[in-house]
Amino acid sequence: MSLLGCVGGLLAFLGLRFSVPNAAARNRLRFRAGLLTEFTEEGIHTQFRDSHGVWIACLRIAGKRRLAAYRATCTHLGCLTLWSEADGEFHCPCHGSAFDAAGDNLRGPAPRPLDLCTIRMTSDGYVEIDASHVLRRAAGQPLPPGSYILL
Ligand code: FES
Repeated sequence: MSLLGCVGGLLAFLGLRFSVPNAAARNRLRFRAGLLTEFTEEGIHTQFRDSHGVWIACLRIAGKRRLAAYRATCTHLGCLTLWSEADGEFHCPCHGSAFDAAGDNLRGPAPRPLDLCTIRMTSDGYVEIDASHVLRRAAGQPLPPGSYILL
């Protein structure tokens, strides 16, 4: 009986030990960014780069304003990119890759655009981003469904 108790206690400890960090990681990757009305200004919203590894972009594409979110990690070897407002480009400090505001790879060894996060508007008007579920595309290809909100 006491052996069963010990095993049960050990399993409970291991369950807590490994479920808490996983929940924290999930919260970091899937989060509410704020009300949609906070992201209607065209440009790159940089406030979630350090906390969640995500860029939010409000861009006019094919005549329509769209809100999209990209993983901030470079598609070459995963370094965190930087946004340069002056150049209108994301730069990777590791090996020199550059991406335009739409996330398309412009220069350097990066093999593809920045990965897109899934994004949606909740019923109460918030922007919800899931960076654990990314969508990939080739440079110049349209944004796939689920990767943008039409404004
Ligand atoms: S990791 Fe970005 S260019 Fe190498």
